[in-house]
Amino acid sequence: MDETVLLVGGGGREHAIARSLADSEASLYACAGNRNPGIARLAEGFGTLETTNPTAVRSYAEEVDATLAIVGPEAPLAAGVADALDDAGVYAFGPQEAEARIETDKAFQRRFMQQHDIPGCPDFETFDDMEAACEYIDEYDGDLAVKPAGLTGGKGVRVIGDQVTAEEAKEYIRESDYDRIVLEERLVGEEFTVQAFVANGQLRVTPAVQDHKRAYEGDEGPNTGGMGSYSDATLALPFMTEDEYMDAVDVLRETVTSLEGYKGVLYGQFMLTVDGVKVVEFNARFGDPEAMNTLPVMQTELLDVLVAAREDDSLPKLTFGRQATVCKYAVPDGYPTDPEGGARVEIDEDSAGEALLFYASVDERDDGIYTTTSRSFAVVGVAESVTDAEEIAEDALAAAGESGLRVRHDIGTPDLVQQRIDHMAELRGE
Ligand code: AMP
Ligand code: GLY
Repeated sequence: MDETVLLVGGGGREHAIARSLADSEASLYACAGNRNPGIARLAEGFGTLETTNPTAVRSYAEEVDATLAIVGPEAPLAAGVADALDDAGVYAFGPQEAEARIETDKAFQRRFMQQHDIPGCPDFETFDDMEAACEYIDEYDGDLAVKPAGLTGGKGVRVIGDQVTAEEAKEYIRESDYDRIVLEERLVGEEFTVQAFVANGQLRVTPAVQDHKRAYEGDEGPNTGGMGSYSDATLALPFMTEDEYMDAVDVLRETVTSLEGYKGVLYGQFMLTVDGVKVVEFNARFGDPEAMNTLPVMQTELLDVLVAAREDDSLPKLTFGRQATVCKYAVPDGYPTDPEGGARVEIDEDSAGEALLFYASVDERDDGIYTTTSRSFAVVGVAESVTDAEEIAEDALAAAGESGLRVRHDIGTPDLVQQRIDHMAELRGE
């Protein structure tokens, strides 16, 4: 049967998904709030619509006769877009609203881990009463992370002893307007991501990736959605062992067993600590930027995974090229706190050289490409080593004309990777 796939979302992650589907025997349609020029070029049709409006997405899916859908970002999942597509008979690879709570409600996420005895859960408490939360901070012996229960685009967490003092954390809690927060033990170590395709009670995992959340070089500045990321030619990363990677996979496997009926990508954000692998959070979708590391080296056809998921078949075993990747994002000046959107940018694709170029939250209009207030485009180097991949990414940036955009040039450099290795060695007392 010829498939018609609807891709929901218009960021860098979705451009990577579109690229993976473009070579398959499928017609691709996409919809997003911004017209992503990279996706638009690969797709047979592009609907500019509000992707958090389930009726609008469903109507577009019906208009293009979609047989399958893949939902990239979390906001449409939280809004029930997968439910609406499933109801219309268009299988959505992405969890329904209730299952997406594993990401969209951090209080639910932690209680779920506790109830099902999922390994790697930090000490935590949830609070509806913000004064009670402040008292807990005063009484707790150790540092805590303050986490709003709802979605904040990765920007709502404040870690005491890292980004803020206990006093600043309490001020943050009192001044913000959150209904519910989670306070949890501060985890110390190195973060990494493992993403898995999940359907029919099965999971298929992908290589580990390390994202860089902080806005500026040297891990300074506020948290962002992710400034760039790297993966190695093996399943694990240079600062961890293969066994530690497998511990993370075990956490994902136990989570899938307890999450009955989950379909879509399950993304585990982990902290490798001296006490083992701990869960920072789960997401109900591919990571952005992590999808741009993972999908270009995945040799198994993405379409085959989606079709098997829909058909209730066994998911195909995944194979990956033994290649490292480095992804660097170019973002508007001032991102994430005070981004300057609406500027026209010149992005010279031809000069990306050997690197892959993924458009992100930019908008293509009649007279050119405009930035929004989120990340603009990413380049990805793919090579035998992280160092080589980093050089490819840098060469592409030098040529791509940064047009007032900002990049963390340190991502994937030998220095920064070595700092990660040294950090873990130091924590382990080596
Ligand atoms: P999240 O929105 O849960 O991904 O959190 C954003 C970032 O905050 C994570 O990537 C971590 O860097 C940091 N973070 C979250 N929870 C903790 C924790 N318990 N301990 C230390 N850092 C944390
Ligand atoms: N890179 C972090 C995320 O996608 O949530």
